[in-house]
Amino acid sequence: MSSLRILFVGASGYIGGSILDRFLKSTNTALKSATYTALVRRQEHASELAEHGVKPILFTGLEDSDFLRKQASKHDIVVNSADAFKAEAAKALILGLSDGQRQSGTEAIYLHTSGTSSIGEYPVPAASAERWVLSDKDDIYAHLTKLEAQKPYAQRTTDIAVVDTGISVDVKTYIVMSPTIYGEGSGLFNRQTIQVPGIIKRALRRGRTPVHGTGAGNWDHVHIDDLSDLYELILSRLLRGEALPSGKKGIYFSETGYHSWKELSEKIAAVGHDLGGLKTSEVEELDSDEWITTLHAATPASVQAGELGFASWSRSTADLGRSLGWAPKHGDASWEQDVVPTFKATWAKETQHRLTIG
Ligand SMILES: NC(=O)c1ccc[n+]([C@@H]2O[C@H](COP(=O)([O-])OP(=O)(O)OC[C@H]3O[C@@H](n4cnc5c(N)ncnc54)[C@H](OP(=O)(O)O)[C@@H]3O)[C@@H](O)[C@H]2O)c1
Repeated sequence: MSSLRILFVGASGYIGGSILDRFLKSTNTALKSATYTALVRRQEHASELAEHGVKPILFTGLEDSDFLRKQASKHDIVVNSADAFKAEAAKALILGLSDGQRQSGTEAIYLHTSGTSSIGEYPVPAASAERWVLSDKDDIYAHLTKLEAQKPYAQRTTDIAVVDTGISVDVKTYIVMSPTIYGEGSGLFNRQTIQVPGIIKRALRRGRTPVHGTGAGNWDHVHIDDLSDLYELILSRLLRGEALPSGKKGIYFSETGYHSWKELSEKIAAVGHDLGGLKTSEVEELDSDEWITTLHAATPASVQAGELGFASWSRSTADLGRSLGWAPKHGDASWEQDVVPTFKATWAKETQHRLTIG
């Protein structure tokens, strides 16, 4: 086969940039010899990617489904790590892969990034017996459709659309559904994650570290380097011709440890106080609206994303990845230690933000 054509969507982001970096440095023969293309929105991203051997294509954004479909049709593999809440974009990419697959006869691969807020439960179950831990060897697709029937959530809507569209057009789909990702990314552009900086930003703006509700929810976490290992492992195994779980069975978790939201906020408060960024190491409880309005406008969608993404119960076990040989290297100490550099980096960005807005 001629060299593989891999299309990245979200290469300027934290996850997409880190995976792309990992693939470019991979020792896997097929990944090494692949040609890489990235859809990006900004000329400066395009120029920088071109310097690193990635062919950039400028586009207006995920809203242009026709363009996404056309570009995907020219590739064997699509790695979509852009906004996980955009179902139409994901569908267009899968339809495009199907178009290309029909022409080339080569089996296409769609690798999608999602998050475990899709399985989050809010309010947090009160009884400890109801505080579940899901394995990715369980029927996660059925679980998602059950939750979705109770109340739609755009990221979950997208997960389900990915699986259903893949099945309907015969494209194999693989979703990596990650918990809280931490650690500095290795991409060319955004190297910072979402949730821990999101709490730190709120703490700096309020002068006191918040926790969403009582912080009783538990979530898992994974270091970005370990997560990149998992993407590389899944793709390398597929490129060796192995049949891995896909579609309804192809939803891969990626946890290496867990925390409660309260513990995390307390840790941030202690670190922020020690570093001199916060006057107090106390933690304050915020309701769903206050949580959002500290940073954004409150809409039903943003309030829901705040509850599921910063306060819910969401515990997962990455049994599929481990059965493929995934061996994460970052443990509890790494998670704890990472709060210090993340606080410093977020503080520096916030200071810059204040200077910019005057
Ligand atoms: N970080 C985590 O802990 C985590 C865990 C699980 C799931 N997720 C989800 O995974 C997705 C990616 O996360 P991330 O941390 O990598 O975020 P990120 O650093 O903000 O990256 C987002 C990427 O998506 C692109 N993008 C966003 N909206 C777009 C649009 N309308 N059109 C075209 N491109 C668009 C961005 O491009 P520009 O550079 O042009 O803005 C960027 O490349 C998010 O949906 C996030 O919720 C994140």
